[in-house]
Order: sequence, then structure tokens, then C-alpha cells
Amino acid sequence: MEQLSASAIEARLATDVLGRTIHYHAEIGSTNVEAVRLARQGAPDGTLVIADSQSAGKGRLGRQWFSPPGSALLFSLLLRPPLAPALAQRTTMVCTLGATRAIAALTGVQARIKWPNDLVVVGRKLGGVLTELGVTPSGALDYAVVGVGLNVNLDLAELPEVMAPPASLLAECGRPVSRLDLLARLLLETEALYLRLRGGWSPHTEWRAALDTIGRQVQVGTPDDVIAGVAVDVTDTGALVVEETNGARRVILAGDVTLRGHRLAP
Ligand code: BTN
Repeated sequence: MEQLSASAIEARLATDVLGRTIHYHAEIGSTNVEAVRLARQGAPDGTLVIADSQSAGKGRLGRQWFSPPGSALLFSLLLRPPLAPALAQRTTMVCTLGATRAIAALTGVQARIKWPNDLVVVGRKLGGVLTELGVTPSGALDYAVVGVGLNVNLDLAELPEVMAPPASLLAECGRPVSRLDLLARLLLETEALYLRLRGGWSPHTEWRAALDTIGRQVQVGTPDDVIAGVAVDVTDTGALVVEETNGARRVILAGDVTLRGHRLAP
């Protein structure tokens, strides 16, 4: 297994901001928890917290995230963009876009984004993103911690039988993929977008084009409701617009999407 370390990562990095401060852990509870802790202590924009293994990895909607040690890229980026909290989903957009671009460039695998935060390959989950925000007492965005888990060299044959088998780059490519190369490229691709974001640009058009969800029949579980219909659009702030069978449009800020049936539009 290729060893991760702060010095090995540093030697590959071609970025100016992302990953310029690195906290590497062979094992940690959760890189997100650690990045939030560092954010509250004033750690700089672009700080990278990365681990080979997490004992308490966090997923969205209160779920756990587990990856066999050394098989995945597990990291959190601490970002401090000059954005209103309502636009903070843009940090997730640039990271998921950066990930799809890096994966395509290094492996040829065309991953898509499943709203709101998953990376999928032909419907199977290749990775997930959990973003946690901190806001100042005056209501400004203090930090966004964007936590990324990517199944890189996950051996699917070793997994217990689960209802929805995930995807892994190892399985897609038929060969192991260097986590160091992938991380370096992912940070480079993400940084190019992040610098534009910091300058006021919206990633909405690119992100929308990379979404697997638009034009599909979906069922979205929200904290209060299950909404079924066709996903027709996403807003600039990252909300999903679903058209129900009676023609009513619902705007969903966060939820869990089940794709139903086939794509209805490109
Ligand atoms: C999801 O799909 O539910 C999101 C999963 C996010 C997992 C990553 S792994 C690195 C970072 N640290 C965590 O505890 N979670 C995120």
C-alpha cells in the first residue's frame, strides 16, 4: 500500500493555497471533526486534514462513513471564502467538480455528481462529501469544512453483501490508483475553481452540467417529507427543483435522493 505522509503529499503538490498546511494522521476519529477544531483555533484557508483511517467517519444525515484503512482518500479541506453563508454550498460544488475532473484526468473514469454531494459512476457511489459550516457572531461565514471520502483502492470483493454496492476506482480501472497522485490533481483542479469562487464567480453552470440528477424521476427524503417527481433544475444556491406530477415545483435545500427510472432529458 502506498504510504501517505505530510512530506509525500507536499512533494507532489502544485497548489498555492489548498494543502499548503497539512495535518496527516495514520488514524483519526474524523478528519471533519479535526478540521472544525482547527478552524475554531484560526487555522488558515486551504488547511488539509487527511487520514489513512477513520474510527468515527461522519456521513451526511447523521450516518457513519467507513472505509477499510488505506483504501480510500479521506480528507477535509478548511476553506474561508468571502461568501455569505447562504452561498456556502458553492464550496462543495467546487470540490465535487474538482474531484470529477481529477478522476477523469488520471483514470479516464467519468464520475458524475448525484445531488447534492455524492460522486457516482453508473449509479454506484464512488464517494461522498460532508460540508460543515461555521458562522461568526455577526452572521458572516467563518469557515466551510469540506470533507471528502473517495473509494480509490477499495476491493469490492472484500465487502460484506450490502444492498447498494459502491463503486471504486480500482474496480473501474482494473488497477490500483495512486492516492497521492489523485489527491495532488484533485487539489490542483479544485484550487483553480476555488480561486475563481473567491473572486466572486459562481460554479453553478459547470456544477449543473456535471449533475447526474437533472431530468430524472426522483424521490427525495427531506426531514419532514418525501417528495416525488422529476428533478428539473438546481438553483444557484444548490437547491434541487422537483416538479411533482400535479405540476407544482418544490425547491429542496437538502435531502436524500433516490433515482427512479430512466433519464427523461439530457
Ligand atoms: C456522505 O456521503 O454521506 C458523506 C461522506 C463524507 C465522508 C468524508 S471521509 C473524510 C471526511 N471526514 C468525515 O468524518 N467525513 C468526511
